[in-house]
Amino acid sequence: MSSPADFQNEIYLNGLGDVLPGLPTDLTRLERLARKRLSPGAHGYVAGSAGGGATARANRAAFDRWRIVPRMLRDVAVRDVAVEVLGASLPAPVLLGPVGVLSIVHPGGEPAVARAASALSVPMVLSSAASHTIEEVAEASGDGPRWFQLYWPKDPEIAASFLGRAKAAGYTALVVTLDTSILGWRPRDLDQAFLPFLRGIGVANYFSDPAFLKGIGGSLDADRAAAIMHWAANFGNPALTWDDLGFLREHWDGPIVLKGIQHADDARQAADAGMDGVIVSNHGGRQVDGAVASLDVLPDVVAAVGEQITVLFDSGIRSGSDMVKALALGARAVLIARPYVYGLGLAGEAGVQHVLRCLMAEFELTLALSGVVRPGDLTPDILRRADA
Ligand SMILES: Cc1cc2nc3c(=O)[nH]c(=O)nc-3n(C[C@H](O)[C@H](O)[C@H](O)COP(=O)(O)O)c2cc1C
Repeated sequence: MSSPADFQNEIYLNGLGDVLPGLPTDLTRLERLARKRLSPGAHGYVAGSAGGGATARANRAAFDRWRIVPRMLRDVAVRDVAVEVLGASLPAPVLLGPVGVLSIVHPGGEPAVARAASALSVPMVLSSAASHTIEEVAEASGDGPRWFQLYWPKDPEIAASFLGRAKAAGYTALVVTLDTSILGWRPRDLDQAFLPFLRGIGVANYFSDPAFLKGIGGSLDADRAAAIMHWAANFGNPALTWDDLGFLREHWDGPIVLKGIQHADDARQAADAGMDGVIVSNHGGRQVDGAVASLDVLPDVVAAVGEQITVLFDSGIRSGSDMVKALALGARAVLIARPYVYGLGLAGEAGVQHVLRCLMAEFELTLALSGVVRPGDLTPDILRRADA
């Protein structure tokens, strides 16, 4: 039976025919390559973070402070890295996290990502802020697993309409992002005065939505600038509180996951409110500068709610070894974001597949070399603090 780690042999065997991987297999190298090839606006938008970038750096530094302690002679010949997450079967504990406006890095945009994800049976979480519609991406995804991410708009009719469309288009789980009710201070974008949405990119779901269009007189034709202003007025809703979560349940009957959780008490509130999961995430450091590293709060959240609801993780995953660390600290699965966006920008659909295959192969190999054969068997015991 094939397993993700077979990608390693495939690469070496291809080498016998002088065929080399089209992109680096160390995914940390993708950003620098992308800087050369993407437009400055697109590169700044993807690579940039809030403020001086302290949170993004902290996310990476937190991984470096944990070290894996390899174990020997434990019969790791047969591995099974597949996991179940909220009703979805994953070939390895990774999903493609929600990333908006993907057409700024590649014309294939979200449909290209959906095809890559579907080919590998990896769930894609489609952003509300996508440059293609919910329905277009569903079509590209075909039989592939797909989740929908909601940026909860001010107008409840738009929110309800998005959820209805996602359900109808076969998205099985809902991810609600809580950390971006207001856009963070992002100097890379500010210095270039580049916000794709104001240029009409990343608004496809809004501009195709009956409830949104109702708010601007029924169609886009009249005044595009007014439509963009209507988007800006609706995009985020900083007035939301925990009491509002009932709305989601009324309009979504599948699993609901809250994204952006960084405190055990918030995770407890999510569980108390009947949510099915949380994503421990600080949006890759794009929202609050000088914030705590996402990995550093993961153990607290797992201790608080790990027995009750599904705990997922993102912010800083760059390798299979990072995945091992996040899972050892209690995450059920991780979401990857920037690396696959660079993969898309550099090589389209094939670039996204490359990133996923590298990540899953390295995960399986690192797991086995740590003496473990199943993701669910990872525990904090395989880790040690670098400074301890
Ligand atoms: C260019 C870009 C766009 C993003 N758009 C969204 C989005 O639309 N919705 C969302 O929930 N998160 C969004 N995120 C955050 C990611 O889902 C994820 O939390 C973050 O990128 C993780 O950090 P990392 O990529 O550094 O690992 C975006 C991230 C980037 C880099």
